[in-house]
Amino acid sequence: MTDQNSPRRKKISFRKKPKQEQRRDTKYVATCFKNTEEELVAELKKLGAAAIQSRNRAVSFYGDKELLYKANIWLRTALRVLKPIHNFNSEDAEDLYNRCKKIAWEKLFKPQQTFAIDYAVYSDHFKHDQYTALKMKDAIVDRFRVAGLNRPKVDRKNAEVKIHLHIDRNRVTISLDSSGAPLFKRGYREEQHRAPMNECLAAALLMKAGWKGQLDFLDPMCGSGTLAIEAALMAANIPPNLNRVSFAFEHWEDYDASLLSKVLGEAKLGFTPLKVNVWAKDREMRSIRMCRVNVTAANMRKSIQIEQGDFFDAKPPVEKGFMIMNPPYDQRLKTTEGIEAFYQKVGTQLKHHYIGWQAWIISAEIDALKQIGLKPKKKIPLMNGKLACELRGYELFSGKRKDKLASV
Ligand SMILES: C[S@@+](CC[C@H](N)C(=O)[O-])C[C@H]1O[C@@H](n2cnc3c(N)ncnc32)[C@H](O)[C@@H]1O
Repeated sequence: MTDQNSPRRKKISFRKKPKQEQRRDTKYVATCFKNTEEELVAELKKLGAAAIQSRNRAVSFYGDKELLYKANIWLRTALRVLKPIHNFNSEDAEDLYNRCKKIAWEKLFKPQQTFAIDYAVYSDHFKHDQYTALKMKDAIVDRFRVAGLNRPKVDRKNAEVKIHLHIDRNRVTISLDSSGAPLFKRGYREEQHRAPMNECLAAALLMKAGWKGQLDFLDPMCGSGTLAIEAALMAANIPPNLNRVSFAFEHWEDYDASLLSKVLGEAKLGFTPLKVNVWAKDREMRSIRMCRVNVTAANMRKSIQIEQGDFFDAKPPVEKGFMIMNPPYDQRLKTTEGIEAFYQKVGTQLKHHYIGWQAWIISAEIDALKQIGLKPKKKIPLMNGKLACELRGYELFSGKRKDKLASV
């Protein structure tokens, strides 16, 4: 059976996706917060990305243009999606300049487009990262000049073309940033809390806690409402960046507006009405006001109930539910009773009134967390900005209470 047209041969070539087809896909790298790579990998698998590889605060994958657009619209835990275009070894700024000048930038963007360079430099060879980025900028504009074109302008705030420079020791990777503004800028945060939680971190916490919209939801210390908004978006299968005004890939030469409309249209067809209640509560009226503004901007006013109330006085709104809270850490927000007494009160409230609930708490106050006096079923280390934190999960069973609510 060596005949090229034999049915058997055809069958074999259809069953397996040819490797070459995969290689025609483009490589992308999505960046994320430390310790949230696992959640990003799971999200990319769901989107159908190929050859996914977890790295340090990033995940690389392969896909076509449609996947790139989907990644920007759908990924909840990604900070940005980069398209690596060049990598090489270099050990000094002059060499970097010469290599960058060899790149055909004029084929990547037009002289009338503005650009900006973001950088992450982890190298002893390039001690002054700002100077290194400046050399790269010089190489780009000089390249345009030598090609007889106008010099493109730098716009640090609203650049149309975003270029990412990453140097790890002597390995230089240059990428085009397809996202532009980082993907946590969903477009709903109109009001900024004194101690806000990053949207991508909030989504990652919810995924780590196993939130799938299966139970009624409560954030009793909601601040500006990030956790409740992200929880509602997830449960309703609404992409986090559906309402973003723009992505940097819209300024690329190969931008396909009808493909983006198709991806957005398909996303809208997937909305599922919420089957559970979502409550966002806080004792401070100014937090409640902020939360209202943000929930409205996220188009979630019908899905999220916002109420003022002190967690220590309020009873649970339902018998069983899923609670996640981001209490004060005594850094930007002070507690009146002292941090250990505050967390002790949280524990007492959970033990007395929230039997039947799953409770998750994120805090940088690890010693104070111990004052909760409940045995956590999970402890997950995370970073909230520069603060090392722990997300702790508690299952508040009604049966065998003494065993389950043991002190630790
Ligand atoms: C760290 S902030 C939450 C920030 C929030 N995750 C966000 O993204 O904006 C903690 C919040 O807990 C609230 N809070 C403190 N003690 C409280 C209590 N006893 N009952 C209800 N809310 C409380 C504060 O008003 C504050 O808004």
